[in-house]
Parts: sequence; C-alpha cells; structure tokens
Amino acid sequence: MAVVQALTPALAGLIVRCMDCGHEFLADYPATACPRCGGLLDAVIDLSATRTPADIGVGLSPTLRMSGVWRYRQLLPPIPDEAIVTRAEGRTPIYWDERIAAYAGVASIGLKHEGQNPTASFKDRGMTVGISHAKAVGARVVACASTGNTSASLASYAAAAGMRALVVIPEGKIAGGKLGQTIAHGALVVQIAGDFDDALRLLREIAADYDRYGVYLVNSVNPFRPEGQKAIVFEMLEQLDWRVPDVIALPGGNLGNTAAFGKALDELWQVGLIDRMPRLATIQAAGAAPFAAYFESGFDRYAPVKADTIATAIKIGDPASVERARRAIEKTSGVVIAVSDDEIMDAKALIDRVGIGCEPASAASLAGVRKLVASGDIDPAESVVGVLTGHVLKDTDAVVGYHLTGERREHANRPVSIPATIDALDRILLPDAAPAAALVAR
Ligand code: F0G
Repeated sequence: MAVVQALTPALAGLIVRCMDCGHEFLADYPATACPRCGGLLDAVIDLSATRTPADIGVGLSPTLRMSGVWRYRQLLPPIPDEAIVTRAEGRTPIYWDERIAAYAGVASIGLKHEGQNPTASFKDRGMTVGISHAKAVGARVVACASTGNTSASLASYAAAAGMRALVVIPEGKIAGGKLGQTIAHGALVVQIAGDFDDALRLLREIAADYDRYGVYLVNSVNPFRPEGQKAIVFEMLEQLDWRVPDVIALPGGNLGNTAAFGKALDELWQVGLIDRMPRLATIQAAGAAPFAAYFESGFDRYAPVKADTIATAIKIGDPASVERARRAIEKTSGVVIAVSDDEIMDAKALIDRVGIGCEPASAASLAGVRKLVASGDIDPAESVVGVLTGHVLKDTDAVVGYHLTGERREHANRPVSIPATIDALDRILLPDAAPAAALVAR
C-alpha cells in the first residue's frame, strides 16, 4: 500500500463551521463533528474568485479540467493539487424524452444521469473531494456505512489513493452490483446484523476516537463529501446555460445530497451566477420517509422510523443530514414527499424502457414529480430537472423481480423461451405466426 503523507502546511483555507454552535476551525485533520458541541460541519468556501461563468475552470491542469467536480474548483474547498484523487467523475448528460415528460405530466423534464459516473452513482462526486481531503490530512484508513453505492465509490477511490477502505453494511440488504464493486475494489467489508442506521451509528463512534482507531469517516457527515456533490447542481445549471429550472427533484435517503444541493444553490446565489432559486423537491420512499413526515409537520416534529422499501439505496430511517436538508428545503421554498414502492418501480420501468435506465431509488425523482404535478404542487408548464442517482446495472435483481417474477406488471417485458430451431424462431418472427406489427407492439 502506498504511504500517504500529510500535506499539512498547505492546508490553510480548509475552514469548517459547525451548523449548530457556529464554531469555525481549520480542518487540517480528519474532522467529522464539531469538537465543541458534536454538531454537523459545513465547509466554508471563499467565493471571491468566481463572478461569471467565464471564471469557471480557468487555470486548471488538464487532469482537473477533465473532472466534472474539480472543474468548479473555485467553488470548492482549497485542497492542494498534489492531494487530489480524481477519476474524471461527473460530466454527466441530461436526457430529454417526450415519453418521460408525458408520464410526469409536464411539458418537458430533463433527467440528469448521475449513474454515468466512474462507479455508476452520484457518490463519486463527493468521494473525490472526501478522499482528497483524507489524503491531504494523511489519513490511512477511510470508512463508511452504506446502503451500497457509497461503499462502491469509497472502495474505488481509496484503492486509487492507496488507502485502506473499511465498509460497514447491513448484511443481505445491499444490491448485488454494489456489493460486487465494493469487494472487487478491495475494501474490508464488515456485514452487520442490523440496518444502515445501526452501521452509521457504530462508525460514528469509531470515527470519534481517531487516536485509537485511526479511521476517517467519509459518509456525508464528513463536511467535504457534500462539497463534491454540489457539482451536480453547478454542472446542471451550466448545461442549461444558467437558465434556472423551476424545480429540481431528487431522491432522499441520508439527505446528504439534498443538503449539498441547497448549499450549492445558496453559493451560486451569493456569487451572482443565478438570479433566482429553483425549488428543491426531495422524494423519499414511503417506507423510509421520516423527512417527508417532518416536512409535513411544518418541520415541527421529527421522528426516526424503521425503514423498509424495495429501493434499498434509500432504506434509511434516521438520516444523518436531516437538519442540513431542512435548511436546503427552507432556503429554496422546497417540498418533500413520499412515493410508494409501486410508484417507484413503475417510473423505473419507463425510464428503463425508453433506453435511459436507472436503479430503483433514482426513479423516485420521476415518481415524485408525477405525484407533485397530480397534486398541483408543480404546474405542468414549469421546467423540471430530475436527478437519476444510480445506474440500472446496480440492482439487476430489481429488474428481474419486476419483469420476470410475480404478478405481471403494466410494463413487464418477459423474454420468450424456445427450442434452438429455425421453426421455433419462425413461429415468433413470421407474420402468419405473429404479425410483425404485433411483435413491435409487444
Ligand atoms: N439514490 C441512490 C442511488 C443512493 O445510493 C442514495 C444514497 C440516494 C439516492 C440518497 O442520497 O443519502 O444523499 O439522500 N445512498 C447512500 C449509500 C446512503 O450508502 O450509498 P442521500
């Protein structure tokens, strides 16, 4: 394993602030909680270098320019170049499809596909910044609790950086593609007889005693992870020529992304790159929707739940970033709702069917927009961008389950099994056996 050296003298400027007590300090060590009160930390960004879109990406090395995260360097923490661990993450497309728009009930909707990142989920955006900070402060072991995507991303970036990755996951609850990636990239995988919330609780305890365990936590409680996820919003707006959509919809689990989107929009507003706020719409799965209930109560009563949903990525009952996410929803006059597993899977089937593809949790974005249009919370004339957070191959069991097993669903696409003969193939393909038009319509 490569020896990772701390780059402490170059770390001036890596300031973080506690969102509870306001304490500000230099994060030249693995800081994941306020040393005074234990609160969540935000990176403090010097916004003075960016004023116009032309300032973006100026003066970067070709390697950093390739990254859809580091391209926005002036809006990120000043981690030294030598510490940056990048896999050319980001630079993801926005897809526009009339069938998706008709399903949602709006004139047009873009789907920004974060599943097209190096490890096939949006997590790589945050991970490049989290692991780069870990390298900058000389951490040797990086860790996360995960529902699968964070662990796959962590394993990859830690391996690239020559660090050891420790992953704590709920046993039997992680989609196969994600577990496979995490194992393949060499992480130490610890499976617990518990859920994601238990896993994160255990790791937060371990991370709090850095002197004893030497483990740097890079879940989104880490103030540097959300910084990379801000780049989803930066890049989306740049792709839209800085024309701000009315609504940005995204799935919510541990709520790091919702928090990051809010911070990104707030900073873009402060530097004057946008002149109005889009509304954030965070969509949870009905069986894992403590934030939707909190929103419903006017952010008056928060209660964790025991999570249960087919969208395993967002099967989280006590999100770590709930108060940061609340800040994001309040700042953007946003909305939070829950959708059922059936609504998620039907939306996913359409996203898959039109050739885009995503994992179940991602489809909550589309299911949520459809529901918000139906309830009148989104006007059909409003412009909407939804975020697809993970690739269809992450969870092929969910695809097989929907299309091949159980009751036949509206969009089910069942393979046909035949003997290996031309006769049998003829019976399927030739007009008198089954008209071609019928085949096309299948
Ligand atoms: N979509 C996917 C595909 C995810 O993997 C996650 C979170 C989310 C949405 C929700 O994002 O937590 O920022 O609200 N996955 C984490 C993980 C929890 O461990 O991979 P969030």
